[in-house]
Amino acid sequence: MDFIKQFHSGWAYLTILMGVVFVISTLIYAISKKDTDATIKKIGLFTTITFHVQLLVGLVYYIMMFTSLEPSNIMADKGLRLTFVEHPMMMIAGVIFMTIANAKLKRSTTVPMKVTVFALIGLACILSRIPYNVWFA
Ligand code: HEM
Repeated sequence: MDFIKQFHSGWAYLTILMGVVFVISTLIYAISKKDTDATIKKIGLFTTITFHVQLLVGLVYYIMMFTSLEPSNIMADKGLRLTFVEHPMMMIAGVIFMTIANAKLKRSTTVPMKVTVFALIGLACILSRIPYNVWFA
């Protein structure tokens, strides 16, 4: 349990960093109308892998936490609602947006602005529902 918690907590830094790198680099490519090359495709691939690893570890962490949870009303408690409903839902949505952005990137010859828009929405979903009080405690 402790390893999963530490991993999920630490890997989150890499996830956010890769998300920011992806948004900025696709924005630069889109503005300068550069062709989709191996470099941007690699950034897209590494970002997607980083996000999916975090998603899978998050799911494992969730199951472990959920099974050791005392019977309680999750929706009525602000903290529990964030941990067990809002955080997972928004993170899954964020990963879906990022995955769509990468899929669109792979299929294009020049990087379209919609790739950056999808990635930005994904990143916003993620940043909006991170339990910062637990993370920085
Ligand atoms: C890109 C995706 C994700 C990011 C960036 C992320 C980030 C984080 C961070 C920073 C924490 C606080 C860790 C700590 O220091 O204890 C956390 C906690 C947690 N995450 Fe995620 N997470 C992601 C996806 C998920 C998913 C998909 C699930 C479950 C389906 C999940 C379940 C949890 C749970 C149960 C906690 C514990 C919260 C608590 O202790 O109150 N995470 N997550």
